[in-house]
Formats: sequence, structure tokens, C-alpha cells
Amino acid sequence: MRRTVNPASLLALAAAVGCATPEAPRSAATASSPRIAEAALEADNPLRPLPVPPLGVAAELADLPFRVTPEKVRLGRWLFFDARLSDDGKVSCATCHDPAHGFSETEPVSTGVHGKTGKRKAPPILNAAFAIYPVWFWDGRASSLSEQAKGPMANPLEMGMSHERIVAALKAIPGYRRYFAEAYGDDRVDLDRAAEAIASYEATRFSGNSAYDRFDAGDEQALTPPQRAGRDLFFGKAACKACHLGANLTDSRFHNLGVGWKEPSPGADPRTGFSDPGRAAVSGRSEDTGAFKTPTLRDCSRRAPYMHDGSVASLREVVDLYDRGGTRNPWLSSEMRPLGLTPAEREALLAFLLALDGEGFLDVAPRLFPR
Ligand code: HEC
Ligand code: HEC
Repeated sequence: MRRTVNPASLLALAAAVGCATPEAPRSAATASSPRIAEAALEADNPLRPLPVPPLGVAAELADLPFRVTPEKVRLGRWLFFDARLSDDGKVSCATCHDPAHGFSETEPVSTGVHGKTGKRKAPPILNAAFAIYPVWFWDGRASSLSEQAKGPMANPLEMGMSHERIVAALKAIPGYRRYFAEAYGDDRVDLDRAAEAIASYEATRFSGNSAYDRFDAGDEQALTPPQRAGRDLFFGKAACKACHLGANLTDSRFHNLGVGWKEPSPGADPRTGFSDPGRAAVSGRSEDTGAFKTPTLRDCSRRAPYMHDGSVASLREVVDLYDRGGTRNPWLSSEMRPLGLTPAEREALLAFLLALDGEGFLDVAPRLFPR
């Protein structure tokens, strides 16, 4: 029943948000001989065997609808970190999707090309190719190719990264041709190929083998006693599992927790209480007002602040928010109700959230890029 993501989507997604990176990459051609430069370039971003999914990730790269190869992953890794693909030459995917923060960011909302600020925070890209449902973005507006194509047009932040501009920027770097040929058999540079390479790189960013996964696999000692109590609460009294379930601890559905709600002035349309309408803007259904996609909880400790607008500063405050039953508003999810947690229970839940830190995704930017 698991469906997977169409690779072309990933780049279109990126385009839609102005998915764009500080610091221009350093030159690969500093060495006097081109062959030496090439050897240095390749040593800096070598072909690596495809990673084995860690414990807890019940998916294989071979299950994906596109063939992931070491050659595509290498190319995709360069592209993901290459700021030259943005309008101002300063922004890459990694600017907002920072490996050190679970491929998310520590800013409440993203800043794109020319310092433009958006309204939403960059979600993590972890086990991303293995979502239960292929819905992307906080409002799920990307779910099929045709829908996605509209995204970039609709989003003003996209300007810096239209498809034509990405391809033009890539073609202006002759050094890439060799690696497109390595990945695809000939040196044609186009958007589909670039998208598939980036998607291949993203698909290798696994998160698993966390204390939570090891406990589930039978290692009783993997969780501390408070973490075990937190796990019982998560799947029991606190009912987090109503929305955070499955291997990625998300249902890939949309819910209103009241995040972002500000009581509108009397007489005003209640919908104006949410400056970001969330899912409703996509579905056109007023009952989806203020509903956002459930994010994965894997590695959540690494990406404060939280929620679609980064408005909740810490995991402790997240737990408090749930304990209060969310923020009351006309569209609050019926699953949200005050939990009546004791202080010890709140600590336990917090401890459990830290047990979701996994491994398999960490990376750093390559130092050298094709020229
Ligand atoms: C300027 C910051 C920024 C840059 C640069 C950026 N992104 Fe994003 N990305 C975001 C934001 C913000 C969202 C959420 C947008 C929304 O929900 O409307 C997002 C969403 C995504 C998602 C969907 C994740 C999910 O769980 O729904 C993917 C995948 C993604 N970006 C990939 C990329 C790729 C690939 C690049 C580079 C080509 C990129 N991004 C560049 C900010 C950025
Ligand atoms: C009704 C569905 C639902 C329930 C129940 C629920 N969550 Fe969530 N959770 C969400 C949604 C949706 C978001 C994102 C909301 C937003 O950004 O507006 C979220 C966000 C979070 C985040 C922030 C993640 C990030 O990357 O920003 C954490 C942490 C979290 N939930 C933990 C929990 C815990 C712990 C519980 C149980 C006490 C719980 N959730 C119960 C749906 C739910």
C-alpha cells in the first residue's frame, strides 16, 4: 500500500518554494592540470556503494520507481549543495535543508534568494522517498506531476529557481556534462535527469537505528525507564499515535492543532485567524483551515523550532501544547483534547522524543564542484 514519490516531483517541489544556498562553491580547477583537478574533484565526492537501510526503515532503494545508482547519487549530491543553481548564486537546497538539522533548519521560516522570507519552515528530508502517501509540502499541494507543475508558478518565492533557469544554469557549467553521462549514458543535461539525481541523493538520506528502533527490535535496554514510560504514553494515554504512526511516525495527513491561530477582531471572517490557511488553500474545503501535514518525528530533537511556522520554540513547549489540547479555534482537530499529564509524564514524553534520533543521513557539503 506504500506509494513512492515521483522523482521529477522533488525538483519541482524545490522550485515551488524557491528551494534555493550561501557561499559560492570553491573552484575545482585550482590545480594546474585538468586531470589532477578532476581527480581531486572525484576524490572529494567519490562513488560510494548504495547504503543499506538502517534498522526501522522497512524499505529498499530497489523498491523505488526510479533506479537509484551510485552515479546518480554522486551527481545528486553535487546538485543538492550547488549554490550556482540559484538566482543570486548564494542559495542551494542545503541552505534550508541542512544535514546537521535532519535536512531541516533552525530558522522559524525559510529565507530564500535575495534574502526573501517565506511563511513556512523547511521540513526535514529523512526517509523522504518512502512516504506512506506521496503528499508534499505542509499543505500537501504536490501529489502528482501535473499539480506540481503549477506550484512554481503560484509561489512568488520561486522566482529565483524556475525550471528554465535551473537547466540554463546547469548547462553553463560544462564540468557537469561528464557526470550526467556517467549517470545516464550520454551527456544530455535536462531537468528530469537533474531531478532524478537529486531524488536519488535524497532517497539515500535514511534515518533509523534509533534507540526507539532498537527497543522495538527486542533490545529492552535501548530505552531508559523514563523513555519506556514515554513510549507507553505516546502509544497510549497521550494518543500521539493517532497521527504519528508507521515507520516515519506520520500519517501523511492534515490536522489542525491551532498552531498559528490569532483570535480575529470581532465581526471579522474567522478564517482570518490563520494567516496561513494550510490545507484549505489546496483542498478548497473550509474545514481544512489551519490544517497542516503531520511531520515525521524522526530526529525531531535536531530541528527546533517546531511546526510549519516555527512558532513553538522547544520540544518541551510542544509537549505543553499537546497537554493543553492544542490551541482552541473553530477547526481544531477532534483528536485534540487536554491530556492531563503529570509533570513526570511530560518529562517521560520528552525523553521518548529524544529516543527518535537516528542515523544514516548525516553528510557535509562537498568542497569541490564541477566547473
Ligand atoms: C529557501 C529555503 C529552501 C530551499 C533553498 C529549498 N527548500 Fe525545500 N522546502 C522549503 C520549505 C519552506 C518547504 C515547505 C514549503 C511548503 O510547505 O509550502 C520545503 C519543502 C521541500 C520538500 C517537501 C518535504 C515534505 O516533507 O513535504 C522537499 C522534498 C524539498 N523541499 C526539497 C528541496 C530541494 C531538492 C531543494 C533544492 C533543489 C530545496 N528543497 C531547496 C525551503 C527550501
Ligand atoms: C491530531 C493529530 C496529531 C496528534 C494527536 C499529535 N500530533 Fe504531533 N503533529 C501533528 C501535526 C499536524 C503537526 C504539525 C502542525 C503544524 O505545523 O501546524 C505536528 C507536529 C508535531 C511536532 C513538531 C515536529 C516538527 O518537525 O516541527 C512534534 C514534536 C509532535 N507533533 C509531537 C507529538 C506528540 C508528542 C504527540 C502526543 C502528545 C502528538 N504530536 C500528537 C499531528 C498530531
